[in-house]
Amino acid sequence: MNRKPLVAGNWKMNMTVADARHLVSEMVPGLQSKVGVDKVICPPHTALLAVSSLLEGSDILLGAQNMYWESSGAYTGEISPIMVAEYCEFVILGHSERRAYFGETDKDVNRKVQAAFSHGLSPIVCVGESLEEYEGDRTYDVVFRQVKMGLDGLEFEDGDGSNLIVAYEPIWCIGTGRAATPEDANKVVADVIRPALVELFGESMAYKIRVLYGGSVNGENAREFFEQPEIDGALVGGASLKVTDYIQITSAAAN
Ligand code: PGA
Repeated sequence: MNRKPLVAGNWKMNMTVADARHLVSEMVPGLQSKVGVDKVICPPHTALLAVSSLLEGSDILLGAQNMYWESSGAYTGEISPIMVAEYCEFVILGHSERRAYFGETDKDVNRKVQAAFSHGLSPIVCVGESLEEYEGDRTYDVVFRQVKMGLDGLEFEDGDGSNLIVAYEPIWCIGTGRAATPEDANKVVADVIRPALVELFGESMAYKIRVLYGGSVNGENAREFFEQPEIDGALVGGASLKVTDYIQITSAAAN
């Protein structure tokens, strides 16, 4: 199955507008030259406008890190899919930090994924087990449930699975410098995520959906992940703020 690789940089709550401008202008030339890979950067909401104008004319795409599911209304502090879609093609949803610190449930994630689809956004839906769940041998149950509940009821209008992206991010690997082994990550995608996608959408659609790995990906280890048959790219946190690393990662995913 030929799935186009995708590398997305999740800047998290980092970068003022001035910092963002500086980082993007340093990164764009190196990223531009990489072909055969979808390149996405996800700055904080406050920097989306500035970054989107810097990316004009480039082939680098923009993503948000979160959004609410309602289109508008009295939801103080929230950002709607319509607002995100003004600047972005992608939106990260259900990141473990959102689940852990802001109480997002699988049901919330599902509402957001549905809203993203209905506004033409490609969601990057994060799933992954905690250290406790990993050590308690519950990875399969947890990840299977997150995929099934997070993506329940989704309909692909154009029959194209490439606009849904799943990111497998074991929580114990995020920001810890301790990545999963590429083989273990591949196995979770092959044995849990892909079968859950098959149950939800049927065989042919399930194999069109891209699955990324995330958790301590850097310029050194990225290639080994991308060599795995079930890993179609990476969701990168810390290393997406480092120009050399991020270009190295993107380059490893490129043709
Ligand atoms: P990390 O974060 O690359 O810093 O581990 C990944 C993520 O949270 O998406």
